[in-house]
Amino acid sequence: MMLPTELVRAVLDQYSLPRHGTHGLSHWARVLENGLRVAGSSGADLQVVALFALFHDSRRTNEGVDSGHGRRGAELAKQLWGVHLHLDRERFDLLHEACALHTDGETEADVTVQTCWDADRLDLPRVGFVIDPQLLCTEAARDPEVIAWATGRARARFEPAVLQEWR
Ligand SMILES: [Fe+2]
Ligand SMILES: [Fe+2]
Repeated sequence: MMLPTELVRAVLDQYSLPRHGTHGLSHWARVLENGLRVAGSSGADLQVVALFALFHDSRRTNEGVDSGHGRRGAELAKQLWGVHLHLDRERFDLLHEACALHTDGETEADVTVQTCWDADRLDLPRVGFVIDPQLLCTEAARDPEVIAWATGRARARFEPAVLQEWR
């Protein structure tokens, strides 16, 4: 399994917002599946992409503008590294960077980091945004078919099957 149960538990146990909220579990699960789909073409590291979905919003303290939540999510990953999170340093550094900088609107980075950011941005239509392809980082995410697919799921707040395991 890409995200071990004990790791998911450890992250969920400290999550302070409602699990069904805008930045809660169904968002994390769609980010996970967006990321895996984009990674299929972009060549991103699947493990890092999956871990980003779990950590990136895990330390939010509100559902609005929560500056610093990316860095706090990265910090949580660091705390769990070697405890519940078993990852080589190269992958850990990518995960840390992807989480820490995911709210900065950047588009230039390692392709794995770019894929993480795209996975998150592809779920923006859940709060009414229309995806601007220029804000996406990878060709793979800018594919109109991918954008249409992710937009439909975001608007419907589609609940991926993995949620069954997380609840
Ligand atoms: Fe975020
Ligand atoms: Fe997010």
